[in-house]
Order: sequence, then C-alpha cells, then structure tokens
Amino acid sequence: MRSDPLAYLAAELETLKAQGLYRRLRVLEDEQKSKTTVDHRVVVNLSSNNYLGLTTHPLLRARALEAIERYGVGTGSVRTIAGTMTIHTELEQKLAEFKKTEAVVVFQSGFAANAGTVSAVLDKDDIVVSDELNHASIIDGCRLSRATIKVFPHKDVDAARKILQSLPARRRVLLITDGVFSMDGDLGPLPDLCSLAEEHGCIMMVDDAHASGVFGANGRGTIDHFGMHGRVDIQVGTLSKAIGVLGGYVAGTRALIEFLYHRARPFLFSTSHPPAVAAACIAALEVLMEEPQIIERLWENTRFFKAGLVGLGFNTGVSESPITPVIVGDGPLAMRLSDRLFESGVFAQGIAFPTVAIGKARVRTIVTATHTRDELQFALDAFASVGRELGIVS
Ligand SMILES: Cc1ncc(COP(=O)(O)O)c(C=O)c1O
Repeated sequence: MRSDPLAYLAAELETLKAQGLYRRLRVLEDEQKSKTTVDHRVVVNLSSNNYLGLTTHPLLRARALEAIERYGVGTGSVRTIAGTMTIHTELEQKLAEFKKTEAVVVFQSGFAANAGTVSAVLDKDDIVVSDELNHASIIDGCRLSRATIKVFPHKDVDAARKILQSLPARRRVLLITDGVFSMDGDLGPLPDLCSLAEEHGCIMMVDDAHASGVFGANGRGTIDHFGMHGRVDIQVGTLSKAIGVLGGYVAGTRALIEFLYHRARPFLFSTSHPPAVAAACIAALEVLMEEPQIIERLWENTRFFKAGLVGLGFNTGVSESPITPVIVGDGPLAMRLSDRLFESGVFAQGIAFPTVAIGKARVRTIVTATHTRDELQFALDAFASVGRELGIVS
C-alpha cells in the first residue's frame, strides 16, 4: 500500500495542539457585522477589518446586484486578455482621483498587490530596505524579486539610514514600510522615511492596507494624513478591509501602472475581479466621499474602547489606530483569553508566533464604526471578568 508522503503534516499539527496553538477555523453563520453569529453563538465581533461596516452597506449591496444583472457573475479571463471591463477601468480612475495620483492598477487582493509589485519593480541586482514588521505579502514580494533584503528594526529610521549609507553606490534601492502595522496598530514614520528616501535616491513604497478608509481626509490613508502626497512613489491599498469588499491596488505614476500591467505576475496570470466586486468598490468610494461621518464614528468608538481597555489595566501596546492589541505575552494564554471571551459572547482572535514574535502573543481587537456603545461596553465587561479570571488584570 502507498504510504502517505504528507504524514509529517499531521505530526506538525499534533505539535501545534500540544503547544495550545492549534486553531480551528471559526465560521460566521450571518453577515460580517458588529454583532453576528459565529459557531452557533451570537457574539460582539472584534475580529474583522470591516472598519466602516461597508460589508453590509445598502449602496454597496445594490450596486453589486446591479452589476451582476448587467455584466454577469464573472469575467472569464485575466485582465490582459479579455478580463478588463469598463467597470474595472472606472474603479481604477476613481481610485486614482481618490489617491491623487496619475493612475491606479487593481489587483485581486492586497497580498497580490504587494507581492506582485515588489517582485516586478526589483530584480536580483537591486536592494530592498524593509521594516522588520512589514506585512507577509511585502516579505514574499521581496523574496520573489531575488533582490538583496536588508531589514531595519521596527520604525528605526536611524538604523535604516545606516543601512543606506553602507550600500554600494548606483544600486537601485526600494525603501518600504507599512502605513499602519497590522498587528500593533502603530504608524510607520512616513515623514522621516520619505526624507531618507529622497536623500538617498530610493524608491519609496508604503503599504496602506489598514490606513485606507481610516486615516487622512475621507480615508485617503497615511500619505494624506502626514501630508506626503507626491513623496511616495508606490502606494498600496486594499479594497478588502475598510472598503468592505475584495482586492488591492497600486497608486502611482502612469509609467509605474503601465509597467505593472506588463510585469506584475498576479495581474498577468490570475483572473480579474467579478464585476460585482468592482461595482461595490466604486460605491464604497462614494460612501467615503459622501458620508465621512462614518470615519468619525470609527474614531469615537476607537477612543472609547481603547480607554476602556487601558482603564481595566490591559497592555494595549503602542497602537495609534483602531487596531488595539491586548498583549499577554504567552501564546497559550492568548488563545485561552480568546476562547473564554468567545464563551462570554465576544469574538476577538488570539494571535501568537509566527504571526507575532515569541513572547508577544495577544488578542487583537478592531472596533468598527457600526459597533454600538452597548456592544462595546458588553465587550469591555467580558474583558474585565475573563482578564481577572485568567490573572491578566487584577
Ligand atoms: C498590512 C497589510 N498589507 C496587505 C494585506 C493584504 O491585504 P488583502 O487582505 O487585501 O490581501 C494585509 C491583510 O492582511 C495587511 O494587513
């Protein structure tokens, strides 16, 4: 009989179970919203990236349905063959206006945008200088590019400067940071990094996945928040988080975008978005322009919830955004906290190594604009009682 060549995977899973780090996928039985049903339990949902509640916004739903009626459900092709519809080009034009750049290209996801762009613009003779906490999709893009990778300690601009000073002259260098770091919720030091990139003639790239729809005027992101328009060569955003739908995009010069049309492998070799996705994203941009008060509501909820957690004595790290980690250190303890919160009606995922460093395990929370005060207070009460039960706070 044939022996299972993948038997080692089961052994790896057993190790995760023994370490208390095995995660079963939780399943939503209702919409992605602030209070929903997960694994047969009604919970206050602090686990999504649905910052503005747009996953269920009536305008987005209506536009998606209209697009299905008009164009069908799929495109049947990659963008470069027969998969570019007017709705895709309309979305790209609207995103370029929104981001105040010459042009935009939309990818199937934020992950594809980062990985596809870094690997396209660099080759093996180039160098990338990258923050140690940059997103996995940036790391993978760097690896795919075969460029030399130099990592600087988190947000340490002086260390990045030293790396740049040590590099041989006339090598092409990409300096890259997240706008908002996804696990700690802190902001990249954009003004200083942009100045550094200018001093050394580097390409400056920012991944604004968690900033789009959250920071800057009408949610234009950290480039707008810090007044860095025109100083970032490659801006990545996602349509999957605050925008509430799916996809990623790159904003920059017309030449950059046309180059990516020709060289970014996920763009070239993977089918384009269903028209309903593009239509819903266009509607989301309209909501950002016409209902900016939802962004203010997100921030009001963020301030209320953060203050509540800190008041209870939890370690919320260095967050400056609606991503608020509750850092407990030990991986199994983070998972236990998450499980007990869930049993108490609060859905907040535990995150441990390798997603965060050993000793930095946490439960990660994200409030949204659509959480009610009652829901947030309910969540805080649950954190208080479970935190005391597990000896995390007194
Ligand atoms: C910082 C960052 N960049 C990129 C991505 C990828 O975005 P998407 O979910 O659209 O693929 C994520 C999502 O996890 C992220 O947190």
